Amino acid sequence: MELLTSDPAVLCVHCRADVTVVRDERGVTGLRCPAGHRFDAARQGYVNLLVGRGSRATPDGTEMILARERVQDAGVFSALSRTLHEVTAPWLDAVDRPVIVDCGAGTGHYLRPLIAERPGAAAVALDLSPAALRRAAKIPGVLAVTWDIWRGLPLADGSVDLILDIFAPRHPSEFRRVLRDGGAAVVVTPGAEHLAELADAGLLSQQEDKAEALAAAMEPHLGTAVDSRDLRRSVRVTPTTAVDLVMMGPAGHHRTRDAVEPLTRGLVDDDAVTLTIDLRISVFAP
Ligand SMILES: C[S@@+](CC[C@H](N)C(=O)[O-])C[C@H]1O[C@@H](n2cnc3c(N)ncnc32)[C@H](O)[C@@H]1O
Ligand SMILES: [Zn+2]
Repeated sequence: MELLTSDPAVLCVHCRADVTVVRDERGVTGLRCPAGHRFDAARQGYVNLLVGRGSRATPDGTEMILARERVQDAGVFSALSRTLHEVTAPWLDAVDRPVIVDCGAGTGHYLRPLIAERPGAAAVALDLSPAALRRAAKIPGVLAVTWDIWRGLPLADGSVDLILDIFAPRHPSEFRRVLRDGGAAVVVTPGAEHLAELADAGLLSQQEDKAEALAAAMEPHLGTAVDSRDLRRSVRVTPTTAVDLVMMGPAGHHRTRDAVEPLTRGLVDDDAVTLTIDLRISVFAP
C-alpha cells in the first residue's frame, strides 16, 4: 500500500507545483506532482531530480564518503556537532514542525541528531553524490534528493525554517527565497588554520580564510551574520584518520591512499598526528 505524506517544501522540476512524497513501508518510493510528473526513488531511497540535465561537477565517490564517515565516527568533528546543536536550537525550537534543508548534506551526519530530537521535523538533504545520499536516505524523516546547489533550489518560496550548509557550495539568493520569515541559514566554513598541518605537508590545498568571501556573498541577500562563532581545537588522530582526512576531500578525486600514506608519516608523533581544527559557524537570519 502506498502512504502519501505531503511535503510542501519540494517543487516539481518540470512545472514547479508542490510534489507529494510517496512512501511505502520501506520508505520513500518517489515524488509525484499534480500534473502527473513522477520521480521514482532509486532502490537506495534517494530521488534524482537532476533529470536529463546532469551536472558538470564530479560527485564524491564511495571511497571519499567512507573516508569522511570514518573521520566523523572517530569524533574529529564532534565539537562542531555540539556547536551546531547549540546554534540551531533556538531556530528549531521556535516552530512546531520545522522544515530543515541541508545543502551539500553528504551522508547527513550533522542533520541526523537534529532530526532525531524532533520527531515532527521534516528534512531535505540535497547533494550531488548518490554514494552520500544513499546513506542520508536511511535517516528517518529525511528526503534525500540528488541536486546541484548552483541551480535554483527545488523548494517553494518561504517554505524552510533552517538551512544548513556545512563545507558545501552556497546559493545566497536562493537561500533567501526559500527561507521563511523568521528562518535562518547556518553556514560552516574552514578558517585559515584548518588542518594546516596537512596543508603544510602538501596534502591539502592551503585554506584561504573564507570568512570575508562568505560575508560578501551573503550580505546582499541575507544581511550580516546575527551570530558568528570560531571553533578552534587541537585534535590527536590516528595515522589512518589523517589519511582519511586527506582522502575525503578533493584529493580523493585524484590521489590514492597508497600514495598519500607515506606523505603523512612525517607528521606521526607517538603513534598519533596532531591537527588543528579551525572553523567558523555563521548564522544568517534575514
Ligand atoms: C565537504 S563535503 C561536506 C558534506 C557534509 N555537509 C558534511 O559536512 O559531512 C561537500 C559536499 O557537497 C557536495 N557538493 C559539492 N558540490 C555540490 C553542488 N554543486 N551541489 C550539491 N552538492 C554539492 C559534495 O558531494 C559533498 O557531499
Ligand atoms: Zn510537475
